[in-house]
Amino acid sequence: MSGTQRQIRHGSGIIENNVQLTEQTFRLTLTIEGTLPTINAGQFVMLRLPNRTDPLLGRPFAIYRVSENGWETVLEVIYLTVGKMTERLAECRSGDPLDFWTPLGNGFSPTKAKHLIMVAGGIGQTPFLMFAEKYCHTDSRCTLLYGTRNIDRAVGVEDFRNLGVDVHLATDDGSAGYHGSVTDLISKVYQPEESTQILCCGPRPMLHSAFRIARQLHLPCEVSLETSMSCGLGICFGCVVQCRCGKDDENVSKTDNKTDHENIDYRRTCLDGPVFDAYRLCW
Ligand SMILES: Cc1cc2nc3c(=O)[nH]c(=O)nc-3n(C[C@H](O)[C@H](O)[C@H](O)COP(=O)(O)OP(=O)(O)OC[C@H]3O[C@@H](n4cnc5c(N)ncnc54)[C@H](O)[C@@H]3O)c2cc1C
Ligand code: FES
Repeated sequence: MSGTQRQIRHGSGIIENNVQLTEQTFRLTLTIEGTLPTINAGQFVMLRLPNRTDPLLGRPFAIYRVSENGWETVLEVIYLTVGKMTERLAECRSGDPLDFWTPLGNGFSPTKAKHLIMVAGGIGQTPFLMFAEKYCHTDSRCTLLYGTRNIDRAVGVEDFRNLGVDVHLATDDGSAGYHGSVTDLISKVYQPEESTQILCCGPRPMLHSAFRIARQLHLPCEVSLETSMSCGLGICFGCVVQCRCGKDDENVSKTDNKTDHENIDYRRTCLDGPVFDAYRLCW
């Protein structure tokens, strides 16, 4: 989406609900007056606590769900409390204001694949609900492979099942589903006779592992990065990642190691991502 005119709305919304789902996970609904520019699945919102300088900067969150009722828009975010902003956000109440700017980033590419395998780790399921909303009603089959530390960390599973997504859980402690790494499930659900697209979001080691499997199976693979950000607008260059940036297919990754002749460059996660072709990232 970089290089083209982007429509971004900045403003202040009102928290409608901020509900605790598990020990560290919350579902926040933000009511925004009027409409937002069209949001693609995988795009994100920057949220900032108003009238404060600590934390000073906003933080990025995947847009989990969005709905409009004519004169207002309701934006839904699911977040895990990990630090200053998210812990303070968890203390916010219905009626509190919250600054936002959105939609940001590129979102997932359109696909005609027959089987869409979404691989999520930790809080990485969040960008996939809108993607499933878009594709579950087509003739594509949607599978969510969702790995968390334990069953208490698995959030939103029913939202996916209600859309007809086939959900497979994996937990580190064996409290639900497969006991082990979520990426082990890719080869179990993959059907070679179906054109398949892999999409991943979660911690970087999990993304790398999913990419290695996709490459072994010769499958297209997009990953959504959770890189830390400052502006979210492409201005500060605080979110760059190394990419193989040539235009030709020779530049896509056949190994994980960079080679001297490769065309390596930097890309801003907030502008050129957060979704990247996994074959073009420097792992
Ligand atoms: C495009 C995008 C979408 C995201 N979507 C969601 C979402 O839907 N739900 C959600 O809960 N989180 C999401 N995140 C991550 C979220 O932005 C961070 O958790 C948040 O910025 C943490 O802010 P904080 O002030 O609470 O923590 P900080 O005080 O900034 O950090 C606390 C600790 O967490 C670590 N940390 C912070 N951010 C990250 C990160 N991105 N990856 C790994 N470690 C980190 C820090 O190194 C530090 O140790 C997303 C990130 C991106 C880039
Ligand atoms: S966060 Fe500022 S350029 Fe990406």
